[in-house]
Amino acid sequence: MNSHFINDIIQNRRSVFPYQYNGSDVSNEIIQDLLNNANMAPTHKLTQPWRFKVLQKKAKNKLGDFLSELYFTSTDPKSFSKYKQNKIKEKCLLSSAIIVICMQRDLNSSVPEWEEIASTSMAVQNMWLTCTANNVGCYWSSPKSIEKIGNFINLSIGERCLGFMYLGNYNSIENTTSKRDSINSKVEWIDSFDR
Ligand SMILES: Cc1cc2nc3c(=O)[nH]c(=O)nc-3n(C[C@H](O)[C@H](O)[C@H](O)COP(=O)(O)O)c2cc1C
Repeated sequence: MNSHFINDIIQNRRSVFPYQYNGSDVSNEIIQDLLNNANMAPTHKLTQPWRFKVLQKKAKNKLGDFLSELYFTSTDPKSFSKYKQNKIKEKCLLSSAIIVICMQRDLNSSVPEWEEIASTSMAVQNMWLTCTANNVGCYWSSPKSIEKIGNFINLSIGERCLGFMYLGNYNSIENTTSKRDSINSKVEWIDSFDR
């Protein structure tokens, strides 16, 4: 194994948004690779809590209709913005596919819920890094409307939506530097607790 390869992929991973997509389809072969890699995420007690719904073509556009309608019905008329409503719809139209990210709570509660959210997030990171490796743009969106997604798509008992992964091919992204505080401010190296 080559550590430069993983470093490059991790350091170059970015959120790439629908307005940056070029309209060409992300192939089902690549989407299947994303899903296979998601499935290799670590999972306590092997509960494998990640669940995905891959929306393409008319189905993803329908999600756009649902989300924009929901924005309309759930927003105070004083703060409602037609521009924002159109943007919600447009994001779905501009994407090649949208993966609905869900977490299936283990019905026996064999692990705490946070561990299942953590595990699902690791599955999403596997997909995100696989997108980077394939020059596919994507990002994780977590609007408030995910709480109502059960009105649009079937969720099993204990299944909860954690967001949407928008996917699309892109030609180039302008600024690829990511803002992060230094890791040194977040780490303590401890050799000994002796005084
Ligand atoms: C759990 C989660 C939820 C996110 N939700 C949103 C979101 O709702 N809208 C958004 O624009 N970006 C969202 N993001 C993407 C972050 O904004 C993005 O990762 C951050 O700005 C850092 O940029 P980078 O991914 O290019 O490094 C989310 C990321 C995570 C991990």
